[in-house]
Amino acid sequence: MAEQKATNVTWHEHRVSSADRKKLKGQKSCVLWFTGLSGAGKSTVANTVDHKLAEIGKHTYLLDGDNVRMGLNKNLGFSAEDRTENIRRIGEVAKLFSDAGLVTLTAFISPYKADRDIARELLEEGEFIEVYVQASLATCEERDPKGLYKKARAGEIKGFTGIDAPYEAPDNAELVLDSDAHGIDELADQVVAYLESNGYLSA
Ligand code: ADX
Repeated sequence: MAEQKATNVTWHEHRVSSADRKKLKGQKSCVLWFTGLSGAGKSTVANTVDHKLAEIGKHTYLLDGDNVRMGLNKNLGFSAEDRTENIRRIGEVAKLFSDAGLVTLTAFISPYKADRDIARELLEEGEFIEVYVQASLATCEERDPKGLYKKARAGEIKGFTGIDAPYEAPDNAELVLDSDAHGIDELADQVVAYLESNGYLSA
């Protein structure tokens, strides 16, 4: 847990509540937390869900690992401590976006269960939806879209998730997407169907 360093700070209640913001947008907000190995399809599925929701007039935002690591989290690498801080910040940012009334999608490996649970605990019951994008290491290595597995196997990247750094799969994800067996569009439809049937897409 991060230490509270700042003293003499006071929480301000805002006149526009989170409920007001959701009502204005005609939806409930949530955080769709995509987790899985590099190459499992997290970013691609999240991107497709984002697009499908925008097409039906829903208000969304996608926080993607590689992109956020070029800005907010550019000072973090891939040590266990840096990954924990990466996920802590994203958990807090996702909470703000959800508070703003947006369906928020995050696509990070987020390899440690404890870190994902901290992100979950920041949110209300039902607001955090863990989406495990499941693909075997063999599938991810075969896809190797960025050529990183090849580099990791050659010893050019140390501490690569799935090769010489751990990935702790979720036990109780709200959604498990089988990325070995199904295509991106089908997986994205499963996520949208989950949101629809659980009432997230209406106020
Ligand atoms: S996390 O572990 O801290 O959640 P994050 O999702 O932000 O990782 O970033 C993962 C992306 O960084 C991968 O998709 C890959 O492109 C790149 N990357 C670079 N080095 C590593 C590494 N050692 N392990 C995993 N991914 C890496």
